[in-house]
Amino acid sequence: MSETPPVLAQGLQLDERQRAMLTEMGVRLWWPEPEASVVVAPVPAPVPAIAPPTPRPSAAAPVAAPTSPVVRPPQAPVAPKPTAPLVPSSLSHLDWPALQDSMRACTACPLSQGRCNVVPGVGDHQRPDWLVVGEAPGEQEDRQGEPFVGAAGQLLDKMLFAMGLARGERVYITNVIKCRPPHNRNPEPAEVAQCSPFLQRQIELLQPRIVLAVGRFAAQSVLALAGVDEATRSQPLGKLRGQVFRLPTAQGPVPVVVSYHPAYLLRSPAEKGKAWADLCLAMAQLKPST
Ligand code: URA
Repeated sequence: MSETPPVLAQGLQLDERQRAMLTEMGVRLWWPEPEASVVVAPVPAPVPAIAPPTPRPSAAAPVAAPTSPVVRPPQAPVAPKPTAPLVPSSLSHLDWPALQDSMRACTACPLSQGRCNVVPGVGDHQRPDWLVVGEAPGEQEDRQGEPFVGAAGQLLDKMLFAMGLARGERVYITNVIKCRPPHNRNPEPAEVAQCSPFLQRQIELLQPRIVLAVGRFAAQSVLALAGVDEATRSQPLGKLRGQVFRLPTAQGPVPVVVSYHPAYLLRSPAEKGKAWADLCLAMAQLKPST
């Protein structure tokens, strides 16, 4: 197992299986002595909390956040650029099944020619608490038509489990790009421009309580949808994490937290503690305000 710096666990209520799963993720926890002063490193200094999301009947996230978040004010709308994502009027009236059909039938960019399957997403689509957004399908995802089924997906499942979630329960998982780029290359801006409206319509229909964007590419794409300016969203992921952004929707702003991609965490297990801090920050956004 990888040695990672221990992560503060004060205030966490984890059952045995969740502890085992964090251990599996490579996250080591420590609890301070009663008299010890608490020092938490992963996120910057606190600023005022955002307005709580619209209350829902679903249970609050089970684990406390280790720190207060940095919260960005709502971003002013930005003028669309040629590649800026928009929900075209052709998508804005689609319901969930029609949106699925539309994605599966899409031939708007060359990625459609090389795919085995379109990968729209998987999970709870009845107003899930969580929307997890990755980059694009890989080889196995293309073959199976489901996101995050490879090694990175297995780690993502462990991360979800550690948060008291499971694939398909209170969480929907998707990617910015719905078709596999050849040789897993980075998606081109034109491909993102073609595909982002699908993600945007998914968000409108799903109405998640929080969006977790994993990896720099997903972070940049989701923050573009949120109207975050280019200079900000082009920063390295390490600078974007530890903050709560807001994605404007018809139902109100949805918090967005970004974190490392599970594939990166497999290559850099020492960063798993930071990823766990991001997940705690995200979970804290779902806590009841009282
Ligand atoms: N990486 C992603 O970003 N998405 C997947 O579906 C699989 C791997």
